[in-house]
Amino acid sequence: MKTIQLPDIRLQVYDEGSGTPILFVHGFPLSHAMWRGQLAPLAKRFRVIAPDLRGFGASEMTPDTGSGSEGTAAETTMRQLADDCAALVDQLCDGRPVVLCGLSMGGYVAWQFAKHHGSKLRALVLCDTKAAADTPEAAETRRKMAEHVTKHGTGAVAEAMPAKLFAAATHTEQPAIVAEIRRTIETTSPAGLSAAQRGMAARDDVRGDLAGIRVPTLVIVGRHDAISPPEEMQAIAEAIPGAEFHVIEGAGHMSPLESPDEFNRLLTAFVERLG
Ligand code: MLT
Repeated sequence: MKTIQLPDIRLQVYDEGSGTPILFVHGFPLSHAMWRGQLAPLAKRFRVIAPDLRGFGASEMTPDTGSGSEGTAAETTMRQLADDCAALVDQLCDGRPVVLCGLSMGGYVAWQFAKHHGSKLRALVLCDTKAAADTPEAAETRRKMAEHVTKHGTGAVAEAMPAKLFAAATHTEQPAIVAEIRRTIETTSPAGLSAAQRGMAARDDVRGDLAGIRVPTLVIVGRHDAISPPEEMQAIAEAIPGAEFHVIEGAGHMSPLESPDEFNRLLTAFVERLG
């Protein structure tokens, strides 16, 4: 891991390998470690860059300016995370555009990156994510969770969330990765988690932007994804000109972690076709 200084914070970043740069953007409330099935294997063929986003893993949290949309509550917007990724690409890639591979919240960041930093983008890989904004009820649930975590810590989220993240078979056949994700959530900064949860509650509906995406795009979803189901991901793929769509059988929302071999095969073939 290396430390990258951005204007207001330092990020911790995995950066290994050479060749086409792939920027892996993790989901919520996780860290670069959710890509552990991709990092070392893919760094044998590509440049693999995987940050801990601001407020997650070992990266710093936004300095508390008290400027969130709820008065004093801090909010990490998806645009802010995309701007951080763009600053990272500027520092690490010497003008070379990246393949951005984002899962779930990482996909929300990818939409903003494509919209605001398109010149730095070679291709998109969207995993287990959504293009629609939250319903008002879902946004309210997020704000309540943010408030709870701020007061009581991440324990309840770490207990409840893994049930939704994995396919049923993963819980019985790969309990170690479920336990690892639970530990990651437990050790996530309550301030970082809450701020990103508020940022997701406020995120834009980007379905109207999909037809304007002009880079090669690969869309991947786990067959048993309960958060962003295959039908929803298929609609995203159909809306993006020329996008490829794949369902990984046996996986849930954490498809790269649950089925790394299949995921890496799809990703490698896609990146190699880019030339
Ligand atoms: C994620 O995996 O990043 C989350 O499920 C995103 C979300 O809460 O919408």
